[in-house]
Amino acid sequence: MEFYDTIKNRRTIRELKNTPVADDAMERIISAGMQAPTHNHQREWEFIILRDEQEKDNALQFAKAYAEGYLNGKPAPETASPQQKMYAYAMPKQYTMLAQSGCVILPFCKGSGSMNLAAMWCCIENIFLAAAAEGLACSMRIPVGNEGANVARAVGAPAGYTMPCYIGIGYPEENTAVLEQVERNAREAMHFGKW
Ligand SMILES: Cc1cc2nc3c(=O)[nH]c(=O)nc-3n(C[C@H](O)[C@H](O)[C@H](O)COP(=O)(O)O)c2cc1C
Repeated sequence: MEFYDTIKNRRTIRELKNTPVADDAMERIISAGMQAPTHNHQREWEFIILRDEQEKDNALQFAKAYAEGYLNGKPAPETASPQQKMYAYAMPKQYTMLAQSGCVILPFCKGSGSMNLAAMWCCIENIFLAAAAEGLACSMRIPVGNEGANVARAVGAPAGYTMPCYIGIGYPEENTAVLEQVERNAREAMHFGKW
């Protein structure tokens, strides 16, 4: 896929088929992540790959509890902003979008400082783009409160590692909802010389 098409095709999809993702595709995707820039030349990133239901149940129990709080929520009214509509749509799916995907990646970085997290997010974006290039799609959830630490403990991560998000990865379901985004064009955001 041409590079700019890959960027365009990367969208967050919260309805993924649970068709397994082939090992060689997963390896290419993680390898793309590991070619991201890093502040300390160490690439201290580790990836827990969850495929079977028991593994997912164990790691996703906290996301499940979170999503259950939203299951009886009402859809946002027509007059709501795109952000409010996105929130109302996405929160009840915070568990199913991961549990029902072909594969879940739990990325971990050593440390939790801004440099560690910045480098980890460069790696995560490479993962999203590589998945798009493979014809796959991703969802992501940012853990809230103690959730990340609870997941780390549940999957046996060593002390000192941080999980900034969960990534669901898989083939997108047909006819998934395409939610409106706030559009901004580059020209408007560019300031030549000064703001
Ligand atoms: C820092 C960050 C945090 C996000 N947190 C969540 C989240 O917790 N749950 C979720 O479903 N989506 C989350 N998203 C996905 C956004 O909703 C999504 O990227 C945004 O709506 C733009 O849509 P697109 O990815 O299709 O371009 C997050 C995205 C970013 C960049």
